[in-house]
This record gives sequence, structure tokens and C-alpha cells, in this order.
Amino acid sequence: MPKEQSKILITGASSGIGLAIASCLIQCNYQVVALARNSSRIPTEVKNNNNFTFISVDFFDLDTLPSQLKSIQKKHNDINSVICCAGKGRFASIEEFSYSQIKELIDLNFTSQAFVVRAFLPRLKQQKNASIVFIGSEAALKGGKKGAIYSASKFALRGFAQAIREECSSSNIGVTIINPGMVNTPFFDQLDFSPGPDADNYIQTNDLANTIVFILESRQGTVFDEINLSPLKKVIDFKK
Ligand SMILES: NC(=O)c1ccc[n+]([C@@H]2O[C@H](COP(=O)([O-])OP(=O)(O)OC[C@H]3O[C@@H](n4cnc5c(N)ncnc54)[C@H](OP(=O)(O)O)[C@@H]3O)[C@@H](O)[C@H]2O)c1
Repeated sequence: MPKEQSKILITGASSGIGLAIASCLIQCNYQVVALARNSSRIPTEVKNNNNFTFISVDFFDLDTLPSQLKSIQKKHNDINSVICCAGKGRFASIEEFSYSQIKELIDLNFTSQAFVVRAFLPRLKQQKNASIVFIGSEAALKGGKKGAIYSASKFALRGFAQAIREECSSSNIGVTIINPGMVNTPFFDQLDFSPGPDADNYIQTNDLANTIVFILESRQGTVFDEINLSPLKKVIDFKK
């Protein structure tokens, strides 16, 4: 299918990894439907691009999400790939989490992404070929100190990705999960740590955007089930 007829839904497209993927895909002539709560961080040249449509959605509100997704799906019934990037980090020992913080992190990092796939899967199955890509995390591969809830949300996403990979291959849908280590994005703005300052201490958002293009443009008969990326050197800076 020509790229200009290929419409990609991206969650978490207002910042960081999702924004880099959206910017790269519109440059490559894909059409992008971008979901997030707030478009203020999206550069004007991206917002004004004819291939870019922003829709405000709050994934914390699981009660209204199904009806919102249904109306997006109706309006954009030609979406043929979904890239799930929305998410946030919260790291602390489990006793430091309130019950609502536990629920919120699982809702955003896992449940809302499952709702998105649930909403779009029937149409994806009608496409000649389609892709679903999840941004997981290195925390989807191994649990670590202060990461119990974040890791649980990402392990859930990874299990979900593996299961629908099995379920959807007969419908010509390729399912991939990318598990990055630290990427230099606003993800760390609210955290008490960040990647070290050197260029080999973090993954660049463009590396992820290029990985997505590679997945979307690969031969349909081969699926990249899981891609793990990490910085050359893992250096963590703790903020005082
Ligand atoms: N940065 C890293 O080191 C790293 C490493 C591994 C995995 N990841 C994963 O990569 C994904 C993207 O992270 P990032 O680094 O790009 O972080 P980011 O720059 O903070 O972007 C997060 C995105 O999620 C959206 N989002 C957050 N809460 C939302 C809500 N309630 N409803 C709808 N959208 C919401 C944000 O949009 P709004 O605020 O406008 O709603 C934003 O577009 C996350 O799933 C994260 O877990 C990140």
C-alpha cells in the first residue's frame, strides 16, 4: 500500500518517543492520527502538517475511553497500524504507592493500551496487512528495585503482545513489542533519576522512530516479535 494511504494511530504522540515516531512518519508520507491529552508540546510544523491529526484523549479515564475510541475508529476507519506509546514512570517501594497510584499506573501503561487494541482490532483484521507495535521497556524483561508496579504494567503489556501476536497472525497482523532502556525524553522530568549526560548513556528518540519505520516497511512474512534496545553504557544520574 502506498504510504500516503497508510494511516497509523499513535498513542502518547504529544511528547518523547511517540512524538518522534509521529514526526518521522509524517516526514515519510504516512498519515498519522495522534492521541494524547495535550497538544501544546507538539511543534507547530508537525501540528500543521496535512498528514497529522491530533485527538485529545485522557487514558486515565477508562470509563469514557471505550466510547471515545469507538468514535475515533468510526471517523478513521482506514487506520491500518497502531503504535502504543502512552505511558509514564513512577518508581518507589510498594509501600510508598497509594492504592490510586497503583491503579493509575496499571490503567495507563497497560489497560488503556489493551482498550485501544480492542477498539481497533476488528478493522485491522479487515486490512490486507497491519501492524501493532507496543513500546514496552527493559522493565518488561526483568523486575528491579522500586519498579514493582511499573514492571508489572510492562510485563502485562508484553504478555498481551505475545498473546495477540499468536491470535492475529492468521489475520495478517504483525505484532511487535520494543523494549527500550533509558531514552532521553520528558519521561524523566518527574523522576528522581535520569540517564547520564553522555550520548552513549541513552537511546535517542530517533533510534526508536527509525526502528518503527523498519518494522512498518519490512516484508509482511517476517515479524519482529520483540526488539530490545539499550544504551551502550548504562549510567544513571540521581537528582539531589
Ligand atoms: N523514556 C524512557 O527512558 C523509556 C524507556 C522505556 C520505555 N519507555 C516507555 O515509552 C513510552 C513513552 O514514554 P516517553 O519516554 O516518550 O515519555 P513522555 O515524553 O513523558 O511521553 C509520554 C506520553 O504519554 C502520554 N500520556 C501520559 N498520560 C496520558 C494520559 N492520561 N492519557 C493519554 N496520554 C497520556 C503523554 O501525553 P499527554 O501528557 O499530552 O497526555 C505523552 O505523549 C512509555 O510507555 C514509557 O513507559 C520510556
